[in-house]
Amino acid sequence: PQTAADPAAQNNVLAAAKPAGKLTIIYASQTGNAKGVAEALKEEAEAADIAVQLFSAGDYKGKNLAKETHVIIVASTHGEGEAPDDAIELHEFLQSKKAPKLPELNYAVIGLGDSSYEFFCQTAKDFDSYLAKLGAQPMLERLDCDVDYEAPAAEWRQKALAKTKETLSTGEAEVVQLPVGQKPAVVSSYNKQNPYTANLSVSQKITGRNSGKDVRHIEIDLEESGLTYQPGDALGVWYDNDPQLVDAIIAKLGLDADSSIEVDGASISLREALISKYEITASNPQFVTKYAELSGSKKLEKLVADREKLREYSAKTQIIDVLGEKKTALTAEQLTGLLRRLTPRLYSIASSQEEVGEEVHLTVGVVEYAQGEEQRQGGASSFLAQRLEEGGEVKVFVETNNNFKLPADDNTPVIMIGPGTGIAPFRAFVQERENRDAEGKNWLFFGDRTFTEDFLYQVEWQKYLKDGVVTQIDVAFSRDQAEKVYVQHRILEQAAQVWQWLQDGAHVYVCGDANQMAKDVHQALITVIEQQGNKTREQAEQYLNDLRKDKRYQRDVY
Ligand code: 2AM
Repeated sequence: PQTAADPAAQNNVLAAAKPAGKLTIIYASQTGNAKGVAEALKEEAEAADIAVQLFSAGDYKGKNLAKETHVIIVASTHGEGEAPDDAIELHEFLQSKKAPKLPELNYAVIGLGDSSYEFFCQTAKDFDSYLAKLGAQPMLERLDCDVDYEAPAAEWRQKALAKTKETLSTGEAEVVQLPVGQKPAVVSSYNKQNPYTANLSVSQKITGRNSGKDVRHIEIDLEESGLTYQPGDALGVWYDNDPQLVDAIIAKLGLDADSSIEVDGASISLREALISKYEITASNPQFVTKYAELSGSKKLEKLVADREKLREYSAKTQIIDVLGEKKTALTAEQLTGLLRRLTPRLYSIASSQEEVGEEVHLTVGVVEYAQGEEQRQGGASSFLAQRLEEGGEVKVFVETNNNFKLPADDNTPVIMIGPGTGIAPFRAFVQERENRDAEGKNWLFFGDRTFTEDFLYQVEWQKYLKDGVVTQIDVAFSRDQAEKVYVQHRILEQAAQVWQWLQDGAHVYVCGDANQMAKDVHQALITVIEQQGNKTREQAEQYLNDLRKDKRYQRDVY
């Protein structure tokens, strides 16, 4: 190991008189939020003179935990309580017989998740219980953060660091080596909290006139921002709520739009706060629960008693519908106290910079549905598609997604499964591969309702196919015939060839709907492997799981 005498290590060495021992931070991140929290924790630990090292769960060897004294895990959960792809191995290791006993370890866990899902913060809960079972000592209670995690996470980090400092040995100070080169690479100074104000240059409906869906192709100018991205990354978009909806909510509660309230230490009008600071479209179980209490609505109270029904109800209602269940007098502060803070929406990027330079393209499905007599819209998609004019301003940042990346080797074949707006990242993939003259074969599975109205980017795909950039396209138009045909049916029809591609080392990517499509595609892939590979169902599941661990099966589903 390097010592203080090593000049290269000089500025990374903690002097004596600081607490001996070090803190290891491990993050399990799917889209980057957990990584962000972990990086903030690392900086704060350094500021508090705690020696610290930071690892992605994918780079951390589980058996090394036996050598640690202080570990903090930042874990996000996605899908049905699943661990982020990078963290699957560590997660499995800790519940296996191979996991070491950890009597010396002090630990803390913070989880990021979304309470609208059944398995809220499951990965964090798992890490917490596995470590406790292995004999480790919790330094403080785990915190399970909801989508609006920034403030609670910051508060928890302070407590966790205070506890860390307290329990780090204060005995004989020893020289501690900090890892070199762990600083996050700063590519651009813009991020979630400090977004770039970009201009919308193109907004074009790409579904047909008679389509049941409104999907927009959107182009945003990044100009001098210095923002860069890779295919597979997402664009974070901050949006403003619909002023008409804001006014309707204010009117419903009989409040004064101009009354001033405190947000982030500044005083602004209620109207302004509801436009740009709070989430006022999607409802959520917490909101319904709190409003049930405040309003005493019998219907809501009954829902709250049944977790499953509460989740269903929250998923299909908006804030204003819940307020409509029973009239209640609320002050402006009470109202905002019930609401979540506005968070940006992440859209899978639909372009490659190799092709479009300082632009970023998105494929946005406009969320719109009828709630009784009323027309309800998604907050971010209606902002992008309707309230934002060409030339208008939109605050954006790039969210790296290392769990959805083209193979490093341009010769590797890829299978892309992206029905509906799930097509977005594959447009980016193919643009990139064409510009790199990648030799690897590209196979696209696309599906939507109808061929004539909903074939997104049809002209581009046909050209790619003609030019041989895309090797094969299989489409499933669900409403063009009596029986439903979906992408998973096409995968099953092509079982032999899919298996052959897998044998040839293909990477498989799935993007789009998480609730149904991704699950059905997952099952179809298992069936292909089972039948074509002559395996039991269990072996086939294991095979697909191994592909996932090897990053040959990557999903970006929502
Ligand atoms: P449907 O709405 O006609 O049932 C993109 O939204 C496409 O995904 C549509 O064709 C839609 O079909 C289809 N879709 C709906 N449920 C699906 C599922 N379980 N698996 C795959 N595709 C699905």
